[in-house]
Amino acid sequence: MVAHLPWVAVTRYVVRPSGPLSGTVQVSGATKNLGCKLLAASLLTNGTSTIRNIPHVDDLDVMIELLRALGATVEPDGDDGLRIDASGEIVPDAPYEIVSKMRASFNVLGPLVARCGEARVAMPGGDSIGSRKLDMHIDGLRAMGARVEVDDGYVVAWSDGGLLGARHVLEFPSVGATENLLTAAVLAKGPTTIENAAREPEITELCRTLNMMGAHVVGGGTSTITVEGVEELSPVETELIGDRIEAGTFLMACAVAGGEIELVGTRLEHVEMVAHKLGRMGMLVSATPDGLWARKARRLDAVDVQTLPFPGFATDFMPLAVAALAVADGTAIVTENVYDGRFQFVDELARMGANVRNDGRHAIVRGVERLVAAEVQAADVRAGAALTIAALVADGETTIDACHHVDRGYANLPAKLRQLGADVDRRA
Ligand code: EPU
Repeated sequence: MVAHLPWVAVTRYVVRPSGPLSGTVQVSGATKNLGCKLLAASLLTNGTSTIRNIPHVDDLDVMIELLRALGATVEPDGDDGLRIDASGEIVPDAPYEIVSKMRASFNVLGPLVARCGEARVAMPGGDSIGSRKLDMHIDGLRAMGARVEVDDGYVVAWSDGGLLGARHVLEFPSVGATENLLTAAVLAKGPTTIENAAREPEITELCRTLNMMGAHVVGGGTSTITVEGVEELSPVETELIGDRIEAGTFLMACAVAGGEIELVGTRLEHVEMVAHKLGRMGMLVSATPDGLWARKARRLDAVDVQTLPFPGFATDFMPLAVAALAVADGTAIVTENVYDGRFQFVDELARMGANVRNDGRHAIVRGVERLVAAEVQAADVRAGAALTIAALVADGETTIDACHHVDRGYANLPAKLRQLGADVDRRA
């Protein structure tokens, strides 16, 4: 049973099967996993930065609330932009009431220590996909000479004479730790090398943006990132890339419901492993000049999937892949290597007639021809998206409760699926 959080209204999606998908959809900017990080990085400058193509998702509200609490001014800029003025006094204290709502808010730690020489940031805690520790963030800052303590649920970090560049090897290519260390290192004294860095496209984009701000970062998108610290950074005007998880969601929706779709504003190299797996299952996916094209003309074959950091099969696609495998021909083993609790949605999928069993790290999915409608609950953003696309082939009317989780990361998923001909409504 998924607990409803007290500050959010109950949101449901209602889905009825409507046959194969068809049409074109514009992939939204990657607000959740990139935009929120760039807001945090804007704290590194003493001026006004602009981020464009940053559509509204609920997590953005949390990040804006946090930046305002820290002393920045955040205002809309045109239809799809935000202007962040971080020129005033920044109070390096990120309170639990805000940070606890969203993991990405912990990304202010690096910029705050770099800019203010100290920070007190609440620990976001675990969530419904696993424990999500912070040890690598803390170890990396300590390697740069910061003193770091955990006190009363807060990470408190300070560096008396400023951060010092260092060579640091991450135990695992953590996205968040790579981002926090990068945004700390850009203003540190001397060179920093982050080994075993995360290689996700959002990291590449963060490095690109930091360089536009005047940082010296080399190797973004590879396992070794080197940073030569500079005295100060300038405000930036930048634009988000398309959200690769949203793009992958539409590909998986097509894998479930069939049809032919075109995605504009994404790149094959951002979803390459998903496209590869779908290709092995029998779907056609190819690059177009401005995005992707996909067609499913027959029932897909089951293939095994295991999640890995980029460029491997991203954990965020795993629940969506399980939805696609639930109606594929054959049996697949799905292995989750990144989180220790991301299979909660499997019980909900089973309530829709899927033949799925799981232990902590594996799920065995035996494909069935069709699913059946049920009332189900979204445990997290991708679980909710997976149940939504599974419902495209569930006979009857499926109600997915707790879809505020989905709205945290998707810019109106029901409306976008409707553009492809799906019958998905939002109900408060
Ligand atoms: N980890 C540690 N110690 C640390 C940091 C991470 O043990 O200090 C572990 C975590 O517990 C987890 C694994 O490392 O098991 C991966 O964590 P990572 O730090 O890479 O993830 P994150 O930065 O917290 C981001 C995305 C996630 C996505 C992961 C992996 C954002 C806001 N979140 O999280 O996105 O799953 O990278 O790619 O960017 C989602 O969009 O649904 C989502 C959960």
